[in-house]
Amino acid sequence: MKKIALIGSTGSIGVNTLKVIESHPDKFRVVSLAAGKNADLLLEQARKFKPALICIRDREQAALLKSKLARTGIRVVWGEEGLIEASSCANADTAVFSVVGAQGLRPLIAAIKSGKNICFANKEPFVIAGELINRLAAKHGVKILPIDSEHSAVFQCLEGKKKDEIRRIILTSSGGPFRAVTSRELRKVTVRDALNHPRWKMGKKITIDSATLMNKGLEVIEAANLFNMPVDKIEVLIHPEAIIHSLVEFIDGSHMAQLAIPDMRIPIQYAIGYPERLDSNGLPRLDLTHVRRFHFEKPDMEKFPCLGLGYEAKRTGGTMPAVLNAANEMAVGSFLEGKISFVDIPLRIERVMKKHRVVRKPGLEDILESDRWAREVFNAGRSVGCR
Ligand SMILES: NC(=O)c1ccc[n+]([C@@H]2O[C@H](COP(=O)([O-])OP(=O)(O)OC[C@H]3O[C@@H](n4cnc5c(N)ncnc54)[C@H](OP(=O)(O)O)[C@@H]3O)[C@@H](O)[C@H]2O)c1
Repeated sequence: MKKIALIGSTGSIGVNTLKVIESHPDKFRVVSLAAGKNADLLLEQARKFKPALICIRDREQAALLKSKLARTGIRVVWGEEGLIEASSCANADTAVFSVVGAQGLRPLIAAIKSGKNICFANKEPFVIAGELINRLAAKHGVKILPIDSEHSAVFQCLEGKKKDEIRRIILTSSGGPFRAVTSRELRKVTVRDALNHPRWKMGKKITIDSATLMNKGLEVIEAANLFNMPVDKIEVLIHPEAIIHSLVEFIDGSHMAQLAIPDMRIPIQYAIGYPERLDSNGLPRLDLTHVRRFHFEKPDMEKFPCLGLGYEAKRTGGTMPAVLNAANEMAVGSFLEGKISFVDIPLRIERVMKKHRVVRKPGLEDILESDRWAREVFNAGRSVGCR
């Protein structure tokens, strides 16, 4: 029985993780849950899964939850300290990270230091501090298992293979909602258009990242860090059907791929169940005669400059991925608030990256400082009306 700390339980990945846990009651037990603002759903989850501890962002909401959960024996904590406590909860052996953004980094480090195996959907910490996380994981002897469907696919293709047998990793992308629109039309897209992803139902931040292809830029960095591969051996291939979740080409020309219906419960279950492969318990199965045709194309790097910015940040290295990520978080937030247009997103990120003086071989403080710096520079650009 695996004992799970679930960090970000009320979001898209969090809710799907609880569905997987519920479908295998003999395999998993929830010992802590953490959420941001959605106190109603957290309360419902706490009553159903009976964890030892829950965490919510605000103190007032924590007080309210405490009174509603009186006499259940469930402890309620709050804020960043609470998040760290929920991540390193003594009776958990596995921590699942499904919060959004760089804010997941400190809790993730706390979980590794307390010896938990890590299943992560929250890619941003791996983008900004992947090398540091790998070193810590090796030191504490914990496993790092990806939930992102592309990285789960690559992880599965690479099992039992030697690193020098790999020629390249090919990450697939559905292409997002604007694959077929012209650069001119892209200037007019609204928040509503950008939130309308053709294949996946996800949180707002990753949905916008998928529309700009920054999600793929972040995933290229995530893959380079996770699989310890040079970034130029990682390629992106547009595959609108989203059935082939990624591929690996080996030096003899063989390609291996992982295929499944586009449902995040599959990679979530693979990560939390690892090394066991569990039954999909009634999920619809892939019928290739129904799909019939696969399509592939190269990504349009001119129309979607965010993908190129991802490669550039990783080639530059040091603190640049942290700057890319922070500027992107700010740009996505500004776009969602209607303050900048869709095509401004890459321009604003690039402007911040150009101003950055890179710190080589950064420690945690350098990374956090670069993250703060990039957010400030982004805001300074906005306050003087830069567009
Ligand atoms: N969704 C997908 O299919 C998918 C696929 C691959 C990778 N990912 C990655 O997985 C991560 C989560 O994505 P998502 O789509 O699940 O996002 P989401 O639906 O927006 O969920 C984010 C979760 O984080 C919680 N949260 C936010 N701020 C918090 C804080 N300060 N303290 C504690 N919890 C906090 C939210 O709580 P409240 O809702 O209560 O505020 C929510 O539970 C992202 O890094 C994304 O890139 C997602």
